[in-house]
Amino acid sequence: MKKLIVLLFLGSLCIRAVHSQHNRVEIDDKKMEWFHEAKLGIFIHWGIYAVHGVSESWSFFNNYMSHEDYMKQLDGFTAKNYNPAYWADLIAQSGAKYVVLTSRHHDGVALWDSKMGGCNVVQNTPAKKDLIAPLADAVRKKGIKFGLYYSLPDWSYNDYNVYTRDIRRYDIQKDTVRWNKFLKYMKGQLHELSVNYNPDLFWFDGDWEHNAKEWTSADIRKQLLAYNPATIINSRLNEYGDYATPEQGVPIARPASKYWELCMTINDSWGYQPHDNQYKSANQILRIFVDCITAGGNLLLDIGPKEDGTIDSRQVEVLTVLGQWIKTHQEAVYGIQAGLPDGYFYGKTALSMDKKTLYLYLDNIPAGEVSVKGLESNIKNVRLLRNNKTLAYKTKGNNTYIHVDKNDYDPNVSVIAIDFEQALQLY
Ligand code: GLC
Repeated sequence: MKKLIVLLFLGSLCIRAVHSQHNRVEIDDKKMEWFHEAKLGIFIHWGIYAVHGVSESWSFFNNYMSHEDYMKQLDGFTAKNYNPAYWADLIAQSGAKYVVLTSRHHDGVALWDSKMGGCNVVQNTPAKKDLIAPLADAVRKKGIKFGLYYSLPDWSYNDYNVYTRDIRRYDIQKDTVRWNKFLKYMKGQLHELSVNYNPDLFWFDGDWEHNAKEWTSADIRKQLLAYNPATIINSRLNEYGDYATPEQGVPIARPASKYWELCMTINDSWGYQPHDNQYKSANQILRIFVDCITAGGNLLLDIGPKEDGTIDSRQVEVLTVLGQWIKTHQEAVYGIQAGLPDGYFYGKTALSMDKKTLYLYLDNIPAGEVSVKGLESNIKNVRLLRNNKTLAYKTKGNNTYIHVDKNDYDPNVSVIAIDFEQALQLY
């Protein structure tokens, strides 16, 4: 028994260590305000991998094809129908408040004309132009924040130590000259990104290949913040980020970190893969979106444009449905905080900042009236956000029963707003 207690105690310490691991830095709440309020972001994986529709960078890393064949896609990357104003419209209509574009994935192909070396679309593809600046301008005109994804590893760069899953070019402990050359290249590229586009957010990836000391993560953070102290940095700079980035799986419980974002693909691929038909429906994505925002996080939903810059209609459709839903449910999306503790309602909930409105999110149609327990405060009004109808309700004992006409339920997620005379008190 004693052993078990000691083990449980040690276990709880480990869990705490893991939760706090993503954060060795002081988080500036003021800086995080727009991010916390944004709720939806659009992730864009655009690169030469869209030419043959293969998995971004991983296809040569995992030996599905040779590096040489992978890089031949450079010749087919045209961006000839790239219309950043259309992308910005689509993103604005989806309700998203920020964008994160892959400035350079693990394959090392930069979307701008880097002077630091490596490979880029301006010098090495028929696209022949900077693809970042026009999107940054177009989205910012619409009041949307602009973020850049940047992979720490560059598997194509000759002085980076990792090449494929089986090939290491050298040992960084032994060949510090080569490693430092790589660091200079990487930090130089990051400086270019700061100066050229002044991103509101840097979205790092690939930190698993080295530790913070090896990447010099603390210095990287310092460099970016020296240029713009308001830049937000995700958690994949080892422990030097501002917020946590779970990937693909919705957290079951409210995450411990104050700020977080779930990044997720629409089908199973980050980049454009035409044979991947595993699309999530708009309904599934909307329900995941509600999971995220009611647990205090954001959803960063990915799209993968084709090599010419057009976007698959199935991706457009999902963004459109999301936007329509967000538009009619705005008050239950922005300016919300954690809702009811467990046991009061079978479903997701949130409260307005003044706690005078409670939102119930229903992704099922209940067997009878909607029931919520333990509301002590006087109810002023009950509304269905979808059509703004006032709903009839009755209180019996500890239960409030709300009547919704079956035909009024939203096909995706219905939201009921309960307004109180004063800040909500619970039984
Ligand atoms: C993973 C993958 C990468 C993708 C990223 C997006 O880290 O390695 O290909 O870009 O997730 O979150």
